[in-house]
Amino acid sequence: MTKIGGAQTVDRIIEEFFKRMDALPQARSVRDLHREDLAQTKGVMKRYFSEWLNRPAGISTALGQAGLASRHATMPIGAHERDAWMQCMREALQAVVTDEKIRLELEERLYQLADHLRNDEEK
Ligand code: HEM
Repeated sequence: MTKIGGAQTVDRIIEEFFKRMDALPQARSVRDLHREDLAQTKGVMKRYFSEWLNRPAGISTALGQAGLASRHATMPIGAHERDAWMQCMREALQAVVTDEKIRLELEERLYQLADHLRNDEEK
């Protein structure tokens, strides 16, 4: 995390992410799956992202990959949802992370994670 600038940077990424989730028409259906008041969700996302960025390779976060997948198992996530989620995240990273190499690396790792959460082949 020191690589991207600490807890404040993570907070800004999550704020920018949800700003876009509220605004982008193609993210509407994904936004509607979230509760209306995002305060709690933002808090959990900020904590998750800090842990995820900080963890040494091979050490999982409190909400590990399996936990993350089971948390998302009740929502239909197809290619559209994955891509809409990623677009909000990609734009948030572009707004906050200035180092292009680090930003592209984060985008790639998050895409892998989002694709792993896909559970609806039909969509
Ligand atoms: C890299 C990909 C993703 C990560 C790291 C991620 C992370 C998280 C985290 C940490 C939470 C909070 C869990 C909790 O409250 O215990 C969450 C909740 C949630 N995620 Fe994701 N997520 C990802 C992709 C997606 C995608 C593609 C969708 C599309 C449908 C999605 C929809 C949701 C919803 C609806 C919630 C519940 C939030 C609420 O109750 O307000 N997530 N996600």
